[in-house]
Amino acid sequence: MKVIHIVGARPNFMKVAPVLQALKAYSQVRQILVHTGQHYDANMSDVFFEQLGIPPADVNLAVGSATHARQTAEIMSRFEPVLLEHKPDLVLVYGDVNSTVAAALVAAKLGVRVGHVEAGLRSFDRTMPEEINRLLTDQLADLLFTPSEDGDINLQREGIPPEKIFRVGNVMIDSLVRLLPLARRQNGHSRNGLPERYALVTLHRPSNVDDGTTLKNILQSLLEVNRDLAVVFPAHPRTRLRIAEFSLRADQLLVMDPLPYVDFLGLQSRAQVVITDSGGIQEETTYLGVPCLTLRENTERPITVSLGTNVLVGQDSTKLRAELARILAGSHKKGAIPPLWDGHAAERIAAIVAR
Ligand code: UD1
Repeated sequence: MKVIHIVGARPNFMKVAPVLQALKAYSQVRQILVHTGQHYDANMSDVFFEQLGIPPADVNLAVGSATHARQTAEIMSRFEPVLLEHKPDLVLVYGDVNSTVAAALVAAKLGVRVGHVEAGLRSFDRTMPEEINRLLTDQLADLLFTPSEDGDINLQREGIPPEKIFRVGNVMIDSLVRLLPLARRQNGHSRNGLPERYALVTLHRPSNVDDGTTLKNILQSLLEVNRDLAVVFPAHPRTRLRIAEFSLRADQLLVMDPLPYVDFLGLQSRAQVVITDSGGIQEETTYLGVPCLTLRENTERPITVSLGTNVLVGQDSTKLRAELARILAGSHKKGAIPPLWDGHAAERIAAIVAR
């Protein structure tokens, strides 16, 4: 049996790593890894492969950045010949980025079965490019691996037959569980001159960073946070670019380049609070029991709010200040770890794939 895994962007490298590892237990499965090249900077890609122990990709489509249509089309036209050459039995796609939907569409049209890891998540906000990617990928997939019950409910509501849906838990948490001890040790040793107490910030959603006034207001809120708690801000290249483009000031914050996986995990685990618009970080903080304030109006990961430590603050600076005060006073919600977020999700996926 031949399986092609296809990934391309930072948030999915930690999802493919445990699945690659778990499938090694099945000698009948031959695995091929394809990197689309959607993310290509060393600190957005190579360093994740190294730290997560992912073997070098067998094929790199080297698509790079472009508009959504061009990037998606480029991935499709470069992936099609790879599929025709390797003729896999299954293509596994991950998450909700452009690489995910592009690969799923190519495979489905060639009659190759598609498995979607992290299926069923919905923000119900179609202005988010990822929501479109999620909806389409799930319609195309034959095996839908969900991280939590809300995923199953969403899929069934969209008419996906229950026999295609497998609730396996959260593969991103598999990588976290494996590397957290290393992250804690490393973070204990090298503090890199960072303060003892800090708010860890990430920001990259187009809805937050592509409009000058919105980004200016968010930076203003972060400068206010910085009066109570030092803001440590590993900035996505897109965000850095926009800050420069709109001539905004962020120099009182500890702005730095994107961090490698283990380094960032160590920083998350010790943070007083994480302020973010990322999807995966809402899940990681829930697992770690670290308070998370999400700069979005909605989330495709509602379990992090209902069960975990996540609070949606949107772009409301008053709410951000109030929630931060609660956290600093120690009266924030403590949260719990969702079912099946136990470090073994990839093993459950592998058992189903190899069946
Ligand atoms: C993509 C995903 C998003 C995910 C995010 C994590 C889609 C639609 N979006 O958004 O869901 O949360 O990755 O990072 O797939 N750039 C670099 N170096 C790189 C990659 C990107 O400098 O290695 C810059 C380029 O200017 C590029 C911009 O970042 O135009 C955006 O990259 P892109 O991959 O289009 O989207 P992300 O914002 O990273």
